[in-house]
Amino acid sequence: MVLIEKTDVLHPLGLDMADPESVALMEENGKIHIVSMIDNTVKIKGLGVVNPSKEFSQLKDGEETHVGSKILLRLPTRLPELISGMKRRAQTIGSKDAGVLIARHGIGSDDIVLEAGLGSGGLSMHLARVIGPSGHLITVEPREEHASVGLENLQTLSQCMVEFPNHSHIDGRIEDVVEEIKKHAEHVDAILLDLPDHPPAIEAVAPLLKVGARISCYCPVTSQLEKAWIACEEAGLHVEWAGEIIERQWGKASRGGVRPVNGPFGHTAFLLLAQRRK
Ligand SMILES: C[S@@+](CC[C@H](N)C(=O)[O-])C[C@H]1O[C@@H](n2cnc3c(N)ncnc32)[C@H](O)[C@@H]1O
Repeated sequence: MVLIEKTDVLHPLGLDMADPESVALMEENGKIHIVSMIDNTVKIKGLGVVNPSKEFSQLKDGEETHVGSKILLRLPTRLPELISGMKRRAQTIGSKDAGVLIARHGIGSDDIVLEAGLGSGGLSMHLARVIGPSGHLITVEPREEHASVGLENLQTLSQCMVEFPNHSHIDGRIEDVVEEIKKHAEHVDAILLDLPDHPPAIEAVAPLLKVGARISCYCPVTSQLEKAWIACEEAGLHVEWAGEIIERQWGKASRGGVRPVNGPFGHTAFLLLAQRRK
């Protein structure tokens, strides 16, 4: 197990502050590219071969430029743009569920938050945005190829935020690294789990919850939800809420008016929240 401790360096993610900033560039179809402003000719997926510093450094937010046949609009690198243009490997938790999880946990500044698996860092990015500089985000991930993508996304986010929480990343399965986690925090304000197998993790980390703190599980199928429910009860937690958040998008109709768009209801996964009450 490798512990990547990044809180004792100048920047929370070990970022060299001389690293170039990133910009958000939006195509006419809404596709976002997050481009690091390096002064080098590089191949950027979807944009071709460009020197970002030469092409885009004079461009201001709200201004357009041409790259090949594409018209690109520069936008500020706010969280929705960074999420839209983030690198993806493992399936991510989107804003629909991240927002509800953050609200139901009551996560805010100063909190110590434990999250596994890091995956592509989709949920971590939402968490980092709300925890604040005096809070602490602890992420855990056993697969190096996932962690590298998730950490890169967090690093890009940290470059674009004025304030960023302390961040520690631990390599390994969460149930195997409890002692490593305790080196950072004996107890935590929230635990968020997005794993293929929740029960071993719940059993291992439930004792880390402060009284009143909650654990949440993101469960793509009902069998996982049921197992997580039972594991939480066996760990002495009170299951407070379980269910799904269904999203239905509306759009402008071709003949006027607005109506639900043609497309599926937005089921993603089942969520479960359980609280330590004693
Ligand atoms: C669906 S992905 C998480 C995606 C992440 N929530 C996001 O929004 O980008 C699930 C991750 O859990 C990791 N994982 C699997 N078992 C684990 C365990 N026991 N402890 C920690 N992470 C684990 C996987 O390697 C995978 O990267």
